[in-house]
Amino acid sequence: MTSKPKLVVSTGAGISAESGIKTFRDADGLWENYPVMDVASADGFRRNPALIHSFYNQRRRQLADVRPNRAHEILRELEERFDVYVITQNVDDLHERAGSSKVLHLHGELAKVRALDDPDLTFKIEPGVETTPETRIDGHAVRPHIVFFQEAVPMFEPATELAAQADVFVIVGTSLVVYPAAGLLHYVRRGVPVYYIDPNPSPVPEGVTVIRAKATEGMAELARLLAERF
Ligand code: OAD
Repeated sequence: MTSKPKLVVSTGAGISAESGIKTFRDADGLWENYPVMDVASADGFRRNPALIHSFYNQRRRQLADVRPNRAHEILRELEERFDVYVITQNVDDLHERAGSSKVLHLHGELAKVRALDDPDLTFKIEPGVETTPETRIDGHAVRPHIVFFQEAVPMFEPATELAAQADVFVIVGTSLVVYPAAGLLHYVRRGVPVYYIDPNPSPVPEGVTVIRAKATEGMAELARLLAERF
């Protein structure tokens, strides 16, 4: 049996937009309505942890009201023909709920909190459950399991290894402005086909096939293009 080609897909907020989750930097995006350095930075957490708990409680609650869209589903269906690895900047769980089997979260997960005194100790948390600076789980004070601005991105290195092994690399719905995530493309081997799906794409190097479309439409187009090529 020949092994399946390795398809590595880097996703951003745009893939969840059609599920009803706001992106960060589009008009009326999250960062227009909340000062990012207050609700998503290490300094902000030191200054006002209650505000950050409440911001992520609210976002976690929203997970109960949204569902994966056709773009997440197509990505899962591609597992029939490809060895698919999803590297997502998203903190929602829509890839998992669509059934994708290998999902690496670069910026953390809304569905988890972690101990303040042990970064490796995470706890699963249901959408309705709220946390505050006073919350204790198994005796530990906790924080959202989110990579804040001014913090390291521990999953970046494994993500670069995946990018370097890709036979096809796809970017979906990201403005490519937040590093190091935006730099993943540079780890892809020369000659490997790269596709970028976004209705308002950022500039990308020559040779990248840009599919200027929303994620649902763009993923359907990608599946067609891959069927012709592989
Ligand atoms: P952005 O909000 O920066 O970019 C969203 C991208 O999605 C833009 O390029 C849009 O054009 C595109 N988009 C909008 N609607 C779309 C649709 N229906 N289908 C496909 N694409 C669509 O979001 P990210 O690039 O994901 O980090 O942001 C990166 C990081 O910045 C986030 O992970 C978050 C944020 O600060 C943390 O909070 C740690």
